[in-house]
Amino acid sequence: MSFSRRDFLKMMGVTGLLAHPCVAPARSLLKPITEVTFKGIAPQFGDQLITSAGIDWKLLIKGNDSIGNGLNFGDCNDYLQFFPLTNSNHGILWVNHEYVNPMFFSHPDRTLANIQLEMEAVGGSLIEIRKADKVWEVVPNSQYNRRLNAKTIIPFAWDQPIAGKKEAIGTFANCAGGKTPWGTVLSCEENYDMFYGEWDRKLNKRTPSTWYGWEKFIDYNPQHYGWVVEVNPKTGDAKKLIAMGRFAREAATVRVAQDGRCVVYSGDDTNDEFIYKFIAAEKGSLEKGTLHIADTLRGVWIPLAHSDSRLRKVFKDQTEILINCREAGRLVGATPQDRPEDIEIDPFTGDVLIALTNNKTAGRPFGKILKISETDNNPLSLTFKSSIYLEGGEKGGFACPDNLAFDKRGNLWFTTDMSGNDMHKGGMKNFGNNGLFVVMRTGAQKGIPVQIASAPTDAEFTGPLFSEDGETLFLSVQHPGEQSKSKDSLTSHWPMGDIPRSAVVTLQGPLLKRITHG
Ligand code: FEO
Ligand code: CA
Ligand code: CA
Ligand code: CA
Repeated sequence: MSFSRRDFLKMMGVTGLLAHPCVAPARSLLKPITEVTFKGIAPQFGDQLITSAGIDWKLLIKGNDSIGNGLNFGDCNDYLQFFPLTNSNHGILWVNHEYVNPMFFSHPDRTLANIQLEMEAVGGSLIEIRKADKVWEVVPNSQYNRRLNAKTIIPFAWDQPIAGKKEAIGTFANCAGGKTPWGTVLSCEENYDMFYGEWDRKLNKRTPSTWYGWEKFIDYNPQHYGWVVEVNPKTGDAKKLIAMGRFAREAATVRVAQDGRCVVYSGDDTNDEFIYKFIAAEKGSLEKGTLHIADTLRGVWIPLAHSDSRLRKVFKDQTEILINCREAGRLVGATPQDRPEDIEIDPFTGDVLIALTNNKTAGRPFGKILKISETDNNPLSLTFKSSIYLEGGEKGGFACPDNLAFDKRGNLWFTTDMSGNDMHKGGMKNFGNNGLFVVMRTGAQKGIPVQIASAPTDAEFTGPLFSEDGETLFLSVQHPGEQSKSKDSLTSHWPMGDIPRSAVVTLQGPLLKRITHG
């Protein structure tokens, strides 16, 4: 989620498809000498989901739809992850619900009744899905269909209490995430300060929330939010992983080291905040380990440990460091970044790609993708080299990269998140709506972003996830119509022609198959 969307919430108050001259052969890594030719799309400006010729989209589920069991799908869906049940065409889909638009789900007036509705629209959904005759569908009333939301009791996986409690009530601000090798999902609490505010460590008191004002009605401590939540998709059991630290965390991307322990990469999506690497203490668990923070100038991972005298002077124990990672990071000299968003591991090289979406305050509005190469390609290494992988701007043909995904052939897919306030204006005016791009790994188009899909008005694509056979791309369409001033002056009517809804869609078709299979 971007800063200006927060601004918007504070306020509360087709074009033709143009052929892109991208027709090029590409070589498959898996099946050499396979020719792939395809056309991208030009920037779009209308209230439609547009895809390249040869790719079609279908609606899977949208905000507030019933999922059975007396439950409804939440708002503003983001990260998606799939866990097979009987086979790769049948399983459980995890969906993050990052935040809620009161205009469409409750009412902008701050009352306890409205806040109760909002609490139920955030968090995450678990839904059983299956593919029948090439079409994915939700299995209604499945025993697996569940919601976690701002009312769910979630224990802290930690020996010490957090702000006096052993458990939090609720999860929200669930943006991107990750998946563990043992079949659980990692859901990241990003802009938690919008809901109950922030805790000022030095003043030992709460600062007000940046929009929702829940703290005026419900007194839950902000220190209970901003964590990674690990969820078992089959049971819905959840816990907050304190050892991984607390900040406006975008993603939690897992790589397994040679000794079987997991390493988890994350970024803090705020101007001038940091990139993190957590190294688990043992196999099969993320409850204990060492959190590191990146000095990308020197190429060093610095541990955030109470044994460091610079931290010991300020924080009474490790728990206090983990609650206040930003302050700790500054004390040890971590490198400020341009809003780190999603992170993916290149499946062929092991390089860590990090979307730095922008830093408007610093005069860098277009963003870039950063590459970190660990020394000896070892995830446990405490040194690395970093370089720019892809630069946003007019030349690159995109702005504000956010979510990343690799397909089976190692092509990089990414989505963009120009804020609603910035889109179609000033330096952003030629980029059109937010989009989905692919960067081919080989062939004449190698390294050149080509736009594959364009989002409806005010929306961004989030949560790109390939099915196991690579023939379907699941995609979240988040916050269409968010710049609407009222229900009487909607900027979008996507997808049903009435009030706009965030939704999960599936992209399929011969072009998608050719790009992902060669
Ligand atoms: Fe929720 Fe940083 O995007
Ligand atoms: Ca974003
Ligand atoms: Ca994001
Ligand atoms: Ca991703």
